Amino acid sequence: MKDKKYYVTTPIYYSSGSFHLGHCYTTVICDALCRFKRLEGYDVFYLTGTDEHGQKVAERAMQAGKTPQEFVDVLYDQITKLWDLLGIKYDKFIRTTDAYHVKAVQEIFKKLYAKGDLYKSEYEGLYCTPCESFWTEAQLVNGKCPDCGRDVSMSKEESYFFRLSNYQDRLIEHIKSNPDFLLPQSRANEMINNFLKPGLKDLCVSRTSLKWGVPVTFDPNHVVYVWIDALSNYITALGYLSDDTSLFDRYWPADIHMVGKEIVRFHSIIWPAILMALDLPLPKQVYGHGWLLFEGDKMSKSKGNITDPFDLCAHYGVDALRYFLLRDVPFGSDGVYTNRSYLTRYNSDLVNDLGNLVSRTTAMLIQNFDGILPANDTPAELDNELIQMTNDLYVSVVKDMNELKVQNALISIFQVVQRANKYIDETKPWVLAKESENKGRLGTVLYNLAETIRIVAVYLSAFLVEAPEQILKCFGEGLPKLFENEVVFGKLKPGIHVSRTEKQLFPRVNIEKELIAMEDRLLSLQKEPKHEQLETTTEVKEEINIETFAKVELKTGKILDCEKLQNSNKLLKSTVQIGNETRTIVSGIAKYYSPEEMKGKDVVVVTNLKPAKLGGVVSEGMLLCAEDTSGNVVLLSPEKAIDSGSKIS
Ligand code: MSP
Repeated sequence: MKDKKYYVTTPIYYSSGSFHLGHCYTTVICDALCRFKRLEGYDVFYLTGTDEHGQKVAERAMQAGKTPQEFVDVLYDQITKLWDLLGIKYDKFIRTTDAYHVKAVQEIFKKLYAKGDLYKSEYEGLYCTPCESFWTEAQLVNGKCPDCGRDVSMSKEESYFFRLSNYQDRLIEHIKSNPDFLLPQSRANEMINNFLKPGLKDLCVSRTSLKWGVPVTFDPNHVVYVWIDALSNYITALGYLSDDTSLFDRYWPADIHMVGKEIVRFHSIIWPAILMALDLPLPKQVYGHGWLLFEGDKMSKSKGNITDPFDLCAHYGVDALRYFLLRDVPFGSDGVYTNRSYLTRYNSDLVNDLGNLVSRTTAMLIQNFDGILPANDTPAELDNELIQMTNDLYVSVVKDMNELKVQNALISIFQVVQRANKYIDETKPWVLAKESENKGRLGTVLYNLAETIRIVAVYLSAFLVEAPEQILKCFGEGLPKLFENEVVFGKLKPGIHVSRTEKQLFPRVNIEKELIAMEDRLLSLQKEPKHEQLETTTEVKEEINIETFAKVELKTGKILDCEKLQNSNKLLKSTVQIGNETRTIVSGIAKYYSPEEMKGKDVVVVTNLKPAKLGGVVSEGMLLCAEDTSGNVVLLSPEKAIDSGSKIS
């Protein structure tokens, strides 16, 4: 099966914080791709893991009062729990602290040094600590790190350097002559024009200031710094330079390295150059996908705009989460997450279209045929379009998946679902059921629906993890191993037993109510995190200067009126006088203050906060509160009476 092997990797995830919905994106996409390839008969190897070394990890561990190893162990537990919850079927999970990886990285370092690809020198440059990257002046954006927007500082130290500059021409040549190597095409142009053509600098690949990393065996003051350690995971996981290289021999080169767009440079320039230096074949493809944005920004913990995948799964199910990520984001581009778009997608596609189709069809089969699948021996012209569309799916879905157009593949599958619902409206089975002479036709209609649903579930088993199995069970079928023989209309034999799904596939949600509930949960998560995984790190906020602090406008205010928000047991809506103006401010403090207690209080208000909808009401500021470690919350007030609207500085 060597020719049908398929080796897919996600980036290894930083073990320095908790994981949010944006992190699930790469893994869910790769999981769907791997499931699909397995169904096509490929021998798939899916690798994911954690990036556990580096300065940021060491700092976070210290802040949390843990050793770096203890710290990354907790993160490892969290991420594997998350992947299990999302049904991610990886074949191997690599941790960069795994002994075999450490050993192989040391060997790689030695090998590159022996070949003359590494040399010792001194590095001086602008360094971004959180991103562990040196930047040139020209690469900074407004004087800040181009990746994370934070401050950089001048740093100098003895380092080993990788002769990246030697590989510049070969890299340009490779990208140009292999149009599928780096996709989407826009990323290839970006790499060539912004990085390769202006000229590559040799790369600093060891540090003396850092201790939490892989030690350089022949120069123990140095530890291997990020690039060679992290990127090599793709080959060390397969046993490269170990006693058993059978996986490496079988699966390398990778068929696809799936990465977010911000790390395309590392994967399409640095990594291929390292591989060239090691005389190894390059991955067949690097695909740089877009970001999941939240309120116009990349979803990230530091920006405070995270969405908790555990919460979404607990309330709407894992399939809703997977479906949203796979269906809502045009692959390659950025996509936007909002609670509303999430719930709307859920209600319209999963509840209305798919859930409804399955429940109507199985109910009619049980009601009219005692759950015994009738024969399809009374065909009509009307049936052909549905049957044709279902049979045609294979070609279009395979093409879309080969081109990584995951969204399009799902659109085509759901077009068949919608066509089947339309077929119900056209054939009116409830009318056919009234006349016994129409029983044959009714049977055929229901057979066609059952068969369409079965085939749809076979395809969906590459994308979703719960519903397909439940649906197939209704027709006595298990999950498919291969598409072959499963996706051609007519497999179901008349006479088989049909049942309803054991539980309702996708219960409908009331979007407006649910939006309030989601905000409530977010507020309580921020106050009292439900999951261990969100609580493991004590985040110490980065230092800011006085100019940054001065951007926050604080004023005194007086609460004129206050009421509890309907549908929420957390939110209070206050009318606050601030000098000459009055504002509506929503606060998550109903647990600590009654509306009556709030009235008349002097408070401290953040007045230049961007208005935000909370509990369906636009909140025009924030009341400052203090919270102790036991979770007691009190409002802050000026120490003596002072006019409302007084500036606080
Ligand atoms: N450790 C490096 C990768 C080294 S690979 C040799 C890293 N880790 S990460 O945890 O920051 O990111 C892991 C993956 O999650 C990346 O592909 C990244 O693009 C993806 N995402 C993190 N936030 C994201 C969004 N908001 N949206 C989509 N994907 C994003 O980078």
